[in-house]
Amino acid sequence: MTEEMEVGIDSAPTVRFEEVCKSFNSKAVLSGITFDAPAMSTTCIIGPSGSGKTTLLRCVNRLDTPDSGHIYLGDVDVSAPGIPLEQVRAKIGMVFQSFNLFPHLSAADNVSLAPRVVRGLSAEEATEKALALLKRVGLLEFAAAKPTQLSGGQQQRVAIARALAMDPRLILFDEPTSALDPELVQEVLEVMGELSREKITMIVATHEMRFARQIAGLVVFMDNGVVVEQGPPAEIFEHPKSPRLINFLGQVGVL
Ligand SMILES: Nc1ncnc2c1ncn2[C@@H]1O[C@H](COP(=O)(O)OP(=O)(O)O)[C@@H](O)[C@H]1O
Ligand SMILES: [Mg+2]
Repeated sequence: MTEEMEVGIDSAPTVRFEEVCKSFNSKAVLSGITFDAPAMSTTCIIGPSGSGKTTLLRCVNRLDTPDSGHIYLGDVDVSAPGIPLEQVRAKIGMVFQSFNLFPHLSAADNVSLAPRVVRGLSAEEATEKALALLKRVGLLEFAAAKPTQLSGGQQQRVAIARALAMDPRLILFDEPTSALDPELVQEVLEVMGELSREKITMIVATHEMRFARQIAGLVVFMDNGVVVEQGPPAEIFEHPKSPRLINFLGQVGVL
């Protein structure tokens, strides 16, 4: 691992997308995606289903690999061949729509697993850390609960605590509230809103337009694998320019 890489990812990085292209079965899913997600800020990616949001996030921690173009975390080109993937991924938290908790482990064990296995923390240190993180997301009293004993909103908050357990400087959220009953959405958004005030870079694919409007520094509108429009929330939501964005905002009830 190079020294630059340590530096680039140990502080909250700007995430720079440069002409990122990706096809599946010769169908273009990402076509020249270019924008900067600023350091220590929350960038929301909005756009219709199938526009490429998930694929773009997956390219950042290399669950997918771009066919061409670059993604830089700070100075580090994570799309370069030969990049030490495990080390890069260890610096990036990811929160999925479907929580993906280990069903046989308690909330505390879900959170302490990676620090123990990847970081080599002792069971005691890892548990202490897990309890502090569960407290932070308001779930200390559920530390011993298994995922099935928790609501969807609680499970997603455990998943956020788990993402934080590796001290990431970048967290990717892929529609973190889309699988939740409407009454459980707010508790998750509140935790994310609090996180957004910390020295951390967040990229959030979301359909929660109110959240994007309130929390995002930058909103990126994707459609059909391209960035159609990007700007601060006041511009995107109050002065959308492109017909596709105007149409999309109409469909989701913003305009
Ligand atoms: N592994 C894959 N194989 C084939 N097609 C895929 C794969 N992943 C995504 N796609 C296609 O890429 C397009 C964009 O999908 P996705 O990135 O999930 O968009 P979004 O998250 O905006 O809904 C869709 O047409 C989807 O079917
Ligand atoms: Mg998606």
